Amino acid sequence: MNPSLDPHSDELTAIVDAEHHVQVSLAQALRDTVQAGKDAALAGKILDQLTTYSDVHFLSEQLLMRMCGYPGYDDHVLDHDHMMERLEEARHRHDTGAQPLTLTETEALLTLLARHIGTQDRVFADYYRAWSRRETESTGQRSSTQPEHCL
Ligand SMILES: [Fe+2]
Ligand SMILES: [Fe+2]
Repeated sequence: MNPSLDPHSDELTAIVDAEHHVQVSLAQALRDTVQAGKDAALAGKILDQLTTYSDVHFLSEQLLMRMCGYPGYDDHVLDHDHMMERLEEARHRHDTGAQPLTLTETEALLTLLARHIGTQDRVFADYYRAWSRRETESTGQRSSTQPEHCL
């Protein structure tokens, strides 16, 4: 996410949505690769990308939550941490050759991610939009009530 963007703009929520699409696409690609029985190296590469991308996305989402004083922050972060643990464990098992990725595991990761986006992320997006509207309105009111000599 570009830190120079106006935190009150709709562009920011559009970027978060776009990041969710990338996350889900990577999780689907991982599931499809394992399902097709393609080489394990490719599955490992996609898993690496999904893990790294998710880590960055979760951190930027958490930054937004802190910025607007989101009351569900702790619960939401627990979900992020749980997902990162699952991804890191899968990556570790894959990298050490302890256990190849299974279809069941990749489907579970996809389900977990889709559920998070459809629940926790949706609730936060609603909260963020309402907060952003209030902030924009109060900023507008403040500037229109300033004494004339301040203009
Ligand atoms: Fe989230
Ligand atoms: Fe998210």
